[in-house]
Amino acid sequence: MTTATEVFDQLRRHLSPKLALTGSFAGRGAVETAADGVRVTLSDGRSVLDFGSYAVTLLGHRHPEVVAAVRQQLDTMPTATRSLANPVAAAASARLTSHLGGALPKVYFGLNGADVVEVAVKLARLATGRPRVIAVRGGFHGKSLGALALTHSPLYRVGLQGCAVDVVHVDPDEPDAVARELTSSQVAAVVFEPVQGENGAVPLPVEILRRWCQDAHQGGAFVIADEIQCGLRRCGEPSVALAEGLPVDGVLLGKPLGGGVVPLSALVCSESLYAPLAADPFLHSATFGGHPLSCAALPAALGAIEQLAEHGKALSSQLDAGLDALRDRHPAAVRAVRGRGLLRGVDLCSPATAGAVVLELASRGLLVSPCLGRPTTVRLLPPLVSTEADVAEALDILDAAVTAAAPTP
Ligand SMILES: Cc1ncc(COP(=O)(O)O)c(C=O)c1O
Repeated sequence: MTTATEVFDQLRRHLSPKLALTGSFAGRGAVETAADGVRVTLSDGRSVLDFGSYAVTLLGHRHPEVVAAVRQQLDTMPTATRSLANPVAAAASARLTSHLGGALPKVYFGLNGADVVEVAVKLARLATGRPRVIAVRGGFHGKSLGALALTHSPLYRVGLQGCAVDVVHVDPDEPDAVARELTSSQVAAVVFEPVQGENGAVPLPVEILRRWCQDAHQGGAFVIADEIQCGLRRCGEPSVALAEGLPVDGVLLGKPLGGGVVPLSALVCSESLYAPLAADPFLHSATFGGHPLSCAALPAALGAIEQLAEHGKALSSQLDAGLDALRDRHPAAVRAVRGRGLLRGVDLCSPATAGAVVLELASRGLLVSPCLGRPTTVRLLPPLVSTEADVAEALDILDAAVTAAAPTP
């Protein structure tokens, strides 16, 4: 068995030295070795609560029904010929469209979130014959070249200016922004996260989104809700945009779509957005798109998510009360608490304090995800399978970590 020291040495030599550094801080020199439900076991024998994993583990780790479905597929036909029709991908597409209510009937499967951001943009451009995309300040849509153009933070574009996609970023509190940009008749699509995840769990104003949808449709552009982080009941509903009655043409899903066991993402969309692919499926294809092992996980994952929907509401109310109390107890250190459902941000008084809180949390047994776009925010992503005792434990650890990391007045 490889020791933790050997793992860090391999990371430093063959992957990024910074991955070795951050991983070593988070694990206090230990590495992750196993996981079950909301708990991760480390090589030094400790066990930590996982409220992070960048929103993938909505069903925790190794959800038994998802593992069983994937294992059965592994023993039957784990990979596809891609020339014969595959029943697993077909069933997964039908299950997913009905999960979202059936109004968006078409599906494209990818593996990572960025895969389906790319295909949505490509289809909108092909279907409209227009080059431009409107995205939102603070939005995060991935880091492959096309998706990166939509991601707002310039941090990841240093040295890559002039990305392949023509993108305009607009302010999320500007109702006229889409109408103004559409006067150019160059806009193919408007893309937004109804709740911005990497930007610190920021819900966008629904009435402005509604106006943007109307303006986009009037101007002949598509509207795409990127729910790779906030969808699938992370924020309470299968789709935040559809639950709010926003007439979007496509919803992007990913992260927990493979049940936290296998990688899977999807664009679920209207006939008109999908039209270029209906005419020619090879306009956009990838070797592992619709992979049977990933697609086998989907029905099991959606079934488990549905069973836990009511429980998720109870956890969300518990978080409301707990995070409000945290803010009230630490008015100097905690600037704000934000979010919806099981996607929450705790905004601290400085990036240094937020960094110190993340390290305190890890050493006290709670893993969270920092925010790529807002370094003052610590993001909490409790799994739906958490018990109320798990959430209470996490809130206690959070309180202790803020007490320890807060700057002395
Ligand atoms: C809203 C949103 N869109 C797209 C992505 C990109 O997903 P991936 O990292 O799987 O490519 C992310 C990842 O965090 C995301 O949060």
